[in-house]
Amino acid sequence: MEHMKLLLILITVLLNTPSLTRSVDDVLVHEYYQDKCPLAEEIVRHNVEVAVLKDPRLAASLLRLHFHDCFVMGCDASVLLDSVEGMASEKEAGPNKDSLRGFEIIDKIKFLLEEECPLTVSCADILALAARDAVQLRGGPRWDVLLGRKDSLESSFSGANLFIPAPNSSLEALINNFAQQELDIGDLVALSGSHTIGRARCVSFRQRIYEPKQEYHYGYDHYKRYTSFRRILQSVCPITGRDNKFAPLDYETPNRFDNHYFINILQGNGLLGSDNVLISQDYDGRITEQVWAYAANEDLFFKSFARSMIKMGNINVLTGNEGQIRQNCRFVNA
Ligand code: HEM
Ligand SMILES: *[C@@H]1O[C@H](CO)[C@@H](O)[C@H](O)[C@H]1NC(C)=O
Repeated sequence: MEHMKLLLILITVLLNTPSLTRSVDDVLVHEYYQDKCPLAEEIVRHNVEVAVLKDPRLAASLLRLHFHDCFVMGCDASVLLDSVEGMASEKEAGPNKDSLRGFEIIDKIKFLLEEECPLTVSCADILALAARDAVQLRGGPRWDVLLGRKDSLESSFSGANLFIPAPNSSLEALINNFAQQELDIGDLVALSGSHTIGRARCVSFRQRIYEPKQEYHYGYDHYKRYTSFRRILQSVCPITGRDNKFAPLDYETPNRFDNHYFINILQGNGLLGSDNVLISQDYDGRITEQVWAYAANEDLFFKSFARSMIKMGNINVLTGNEGQIRQNCRFVNA
C-alpha cells in the first residue's frame, strides 16, 4: 500500500516536470527560424519599417494586434482569422470592430514569407515580431522575440468580447483581467505604457470626458490644466455623434514611444478611463509609485516594458503539433 502511494507520487512528479513531458519542440526559443528560415526576422522588420514610414500610426496598430491576439486563447493568431460559415471572427467583436488595423501589412509579410520559406513561419510569430519592430521604430526598446508559436484552428468571437479589457473598466477589473492571463499588476502598469502611441476613437473616451469631475491631488494649477484638456477633447467628441473621431492617446508626443504616458496620467490627463484609474483608484499608492518611477526614468520603463511584452507573448502559446502554420493568416489551411 505504501509502495503504491510512493509510486503514484513519483508518477505525478514526473508528469508535471516540463522537461519530461514536453518535447524540445514545445518551448519558444529565440533562434527558431535560424535554420528553417534565416531571413524571416529581416523580412518582417523591413516590411514593417516601410509600412510605418508611410503610416506612422501603423506602429501602434501592430502593437495592439499582438495584444488582442494574446488575450484571446493565447498568442495564436486567432485574431487574424476572417469569419467563415459557423465561426464568427474576433475582428467582429466589440473591442475590435472598426478599431483594429494592420491586417493588410500582416498579409503582405505572410505572402513574402510563403515565397521565401513555405509553411514555415507562423502568423502568431509574425505578430510578435511586428509588434517588437513597431515599438523600436517609434523610438522604444528592442527585445529578442521568443519564437516557435503555432497558429490556431479557430477564432473566439465571445472570447474577444470577454477577455479584452474595456476602456471604462475599474482598476480592480483591469487587475483581474490581466490576472486571468497570468499577468500581474506590474505588467498591467508597464504594458499600459503602450498608450504612448496611437489613437482612440471618441466612443472609447466619451464616458471619461463627460463624467463628473474627480477629486484632485495635485492642486489648482493642475485643475485648470485638466479643465482645458477636457474642453479640447469635448470639442472633438460631442456627447452624441462623431463616434469615430480620433484623439491621440498621448497628446504630448503622439508618435513617439517614450515615457510620456506616465507623466500624462500623473497629471490626470490620460485619454482613456482605464489609463486614469491606474492613479485615481490606486488606494494603496503602489501603482502610483511605479508610475512615478517610469515617469522619472524612461530606461526603467523600457526595461519593464520589454520584460512584460515577452511575458505577454508567452500566453498560452501553441507549440509542436498543437496548431498549424497557416498559409494565409486569414484562413485555416484547407
Ligand atoms: C489595460 C487595459 C487596456 C485597455 C482598457 C485598452 C483599451 C484601448 C482602447 C479603447 C483603445 C482605442 C481603440 C479605439 O478607439 O479604436 C486602445 C488603443 C491602443 N491600445 Fe490599448 N488598452 C489596454 C491595454 C493595452 C495593451 C496591454 C497594449 C499593448 C501591449 C495596448 C496597445 C494599444 C495601442 C498601441 C493602441 C493604439 C492603436 C492604434 O492607434 O491603432 N493597449 N486601447
Ligand atoms: C462601459 O461602457 C459600456 C459600453 O458603452 C456600457 O454598456 C457600460 O455600462 C459601461 N460600464 C461602466 C462601468 O460604466
